[in-house]
Amino acid sequence: MSKTISKILVTGALGQIGSELTTELRRRYGDSNVVASDLKPGPEGELGQAGPFEQVSVTDAEGLTAVCIRHNIDTIVHLAAILSATGEKDPLAAWHVNMTGLINALEIARDLELAQVLCPSSIAVFGAGCPRDNTPQETVLKPSTIYGVTKVAGELLCDYYVGRYGVDARGLRYPGIVSAETLPGGGTTDYAVEIYYSAVENGEYTCFVSEDTRLPMMYMPDCIKGTIDLMEADPDRLIHHGDFNMGSMSFSAGELAASIREHIPGFRTTYRPDYRQAIADSWPSSIDDTAARDEWDWRPEYDLQAMTGDMLAKLRTRHEAGLLYR
Ligand code: NAD
Ligand code: SER
Repeated sequence: MSKTISKILVTGALGQIGSELTTELRRRYGDSNVVASDLKPGPEGELGQAGPFEQVSVTDAEGLTAVCIRHNIDTIVHLAAILSATGEKDPLAAWHVNMTGLINALEIARDLELAQVLCPSSIAVFGAGCPRDNTPQETVLKPSTIYGVTKVAGELLCDYYVGRYGVDARGLRYPGIVSAETLPGGGTTDYAVEIYYSAVENGEYTCFVSEDTRLPMMYMPDCIKGTIDLMEADPDRLIHHGDFNMGSMSFSAGELAASIREHIPGFRTTYRPDYRQAIADSWPSSIDDTAARDEWDWRPEYDLQAMTGDMLAKLRTRHEAGLLYR
């Protein structure tokens, strides 16, 4: 029997996903029932004003525990992390934030008997030896980045806390997330967001992966919907816990540029692969998410055309108001 989710702490709430997920959670659970937190100071915008905010590092076990007790938290949505490209610049920092942060969240859940901890994983768990097309749920996990190593360890840790302590820990392997609200924070898939901003701002983009680089991606509305669907899924249906493959769409950098060109015919792209190319090459090109579909009815809604239309409409409106990078 699962416990009720009523008071949520979102770590990493000022990041690409947290800034939008927090707003949607507040809409559903009530502004005062969703506490945003981050290492960075509280924002002055909508997110900061709409509900409580706590500045705390997820590596600070005492500080994080105090926040949970002060707000009577029963669920942690643990988004604070160092992503793949930034992680390669300082692997020890990535290990510290991603692993110490997660174990702190799980220990708090065990100690305070929380209802749930949700922690995203990533397509970065995959690497050499796994099939690149339609990558299955169960396969070889040999990532080449420190970020991927922390995500594999994180999935195992979540499953361990489920089995050993009965903590309700859940997680999904997000593909690259594309969004118009908050810029991404140092991942390999960031080009799939930057390209829209540059198209609207300059009509050109220099891409840091090659034209034929094909990766699984997802538009933010599907990411938010899927994340909350998993949080609210009936635990009795879940066979997996911390490691659901989550698919949506899959396209090459060239196909992405072509979809933008349908709206901005003169849009020009140059391809100058850097160190992130090797990371992208180590990841799947598409994902088999049968387990998510079977166990909690996952169904994405957006394809590339729908996403491009929506991204460009949003960014153009902001650009015209002088608020593209607000
Ligand atoms: P992001 O980099 O945009 O945001 C991370 C947030 O965590 C930032 O606001 C940062 O200030 C905060 N943070 C960093 N160190 C912290 C610390 N010590 N204590 C507290 N906060 C700290 O990341 P995101 O894209 O929003 O990702 C959220 C989660 O989703 C992460 O676990 C990430 O691995 C996962 N994920 C994201 C993507 C994607 O494409 N965005 C894909 C796969 C998985
Ligand atoms: N978007 C993420 C990254 O590129 C995938 O986890 O790091």
